[in-house]
Amino acid sequence: MERIRVETAPIEGQKPGTSGLRKKTEVFMGEHYLENFVQAIWNAIGGVAGKTLVLGGDGRYFNDRAAQVILRMAAASGAAKVIVGRDAILSTPAASHLIRTRQTDGGIILSASHNPGGRDEDFGVKFNAANGGPAPEDLTDRIFAETERVAFYDILSSHDVDLSVEGEVALGDMRVEVVDPVADYASLMEALFDFDAIRALFNSGFTMRFDAMHAVTGPYATEILENRLGAAKGTVLNGTPSPDFGGGHPDPNPIWAKPLVDLVMSSDAPDFAAASDGDGDRNMILGRGLYVTPSDSLAVLAANAHLTPGYSGGLKGVARSMPTSGAVDRVAEAMGLTCFETPTGWKFFGNLLDAGKATLCGEESAGTGSDHVREKDGLWAVLLWLNILAVKSGSVKELMLDHWRRYGRNYYSRHDYEAVDAGRASDMLDALRGGLGDLPGRAFAAGVVSVADEFAYDDPVDGSRSERQGLRIAFENGSRIVYRLSGTGTVGATLRVYLETYSPGPDGLEEAPEEALAAVIASAEEIAGISEHTGRDAPDVTT
Ligand code: G1P
Ligand code: ZN
Repeated sequence: MERIRVETAPIEGQKPGTSGLRKKTEVFMGEHYLENFVQAIWNAIGGVAGKTLVLGGDGRYFNDRAAQVILRMAAASGAAKVIVGRDAILSTPAASHLIRTRQTDGGIILSASHNPGGRDEDFGVKFNAANGGPAPEDLTDRIFAETERVAFYDILSSHDVDLSVEGEVALGDMRVEVVDPVADYASLMEALFDFDAIRALFNSGFTMRFDAMHAVTGPYATEILENRLGAAKGTVLNGTPSPDFGGGHPDPNPIWAKPLVDLVMSSDAPDFAAASDGDGDRNMILGRGLYVTPSDSLAVLAANAHLTPGYSGGLKGVARSMPTSGAVDRVAEAMGLTCFETPTGWKFFGNLLDAGKATLCGEESAGTGSDHVREKDGLWAVLLWLNILAVKSGSVKELMLDHWRRYGRNYYSRHDYEAVDAGRASDMLDALRGGLGDLPGRAFAAGVVSVADEFAYDDPVDGSRSERQGLRIAFENGSRIVYRLSGTGTVGATLRVYLETYSPGPDGLEEAPEEALAAVIASAEEIAGISEHTGRDAPDVTT
């Protein structure tokens, strides 16, 4: 086994986005591409010599090859040990948990999350720090800076490590420990939730479907729901992971998980249904005849988490990303909790969780999590819902109606314009930014504008400031429009428009969201001139 130093040169565009570096798989497979980025990670964290890392991914195309390259590079740079999920598989939350329980120096997760996989689709690499959470911005900035000056990388010339067998092997002077990707995570879930109560719920005839979308949560859900909790065989749908996720988008929302949504709207509906994404950190919650928006889900979980063992001591605080609806704010206010508003992306929650300022956090993009790991966690959210339903013993619909009667309802929708010309998208935002000052006091169909600003975040823990995190327009009646560009897209720009309106109840709690939001949608177009700027007259994806 020989250590080789390979000369290379910086490759443009290796800037980590909202969640690591995401590119087309072919790009990652290009000469030196992955190696440059991994070497930049080593350089940015002060080298890997003597360190222990976790490694795994969501099983998409190139996952296995990339894992072997990273192992050889870690060994060549003197890492002490890498803990790898069997077959290089680890869901994002399971990786976060392993980093924490094994007290490693961090980990690398191979995933492009909910983006489709395959040779012609997307791949991604993200580095998580020793707290188990996504690299904070100062670290991703350093990684990017290193990609701009990388001149060589070190790699071992060796055979592949057999990752199909659990146990420990040597790779040069480095140890590679192959672990069951599910076991530790499943034990953590068992420690947080009342599995007896959930088992009793399933025994009483409660039915559920979980759509793993051919992605990484299949084995996790089968073990936890069917094997440990006694849900009927067949509860888990599409439970065998495949490198291209069965050709679909492993994104748990009403567009990409339509068959599951159709099922809950049909006469064969189960009592409860859920889905998760490519790497297992997102979730979608459904009841019979009902889609629960992620923003509402966060609010319901915040209001009821104390009914479950892991959260029986109450919550320290809650946090939501800025574009997420204000539903959880109302719960926090009623419970006397602080509600933090952070920029989009999970990395901003880490400091709040580490500092004990928040226990639950969530995003409108189907991400919910708590201080049990430092990532959002799809199956965890599903189990928290199940535990709450087991305690409250009503339907999802009854639970939601009770919630809205008490707190009012935040109708919510997100419109995405994908692969828009990047220049035109930023021109649109520049124009809007320039006109923000004129908006307060003006009346639109959605109401009278109360505040129009660009969101910036001052981290209350480390004092860092993140600018330009979205343009927001709030109306006197509680409605709100937010515009921002995606930081995870791989083609052109993706414009996201977040739409919200509030109904205090008791009437108007059961409208169709697109009707309740019609005036806000019209005002979003009028204020920003979306179609004129982007050349699109309708969004590509509405969730
Ligand atoms: C999207 C979501 C964001 C989420 C991220 C990673 O980022 O909007 O909430 O944290 O994916 O899953 P965006 O593409 O909007 O930057
Ligand atoms: Zn994900």
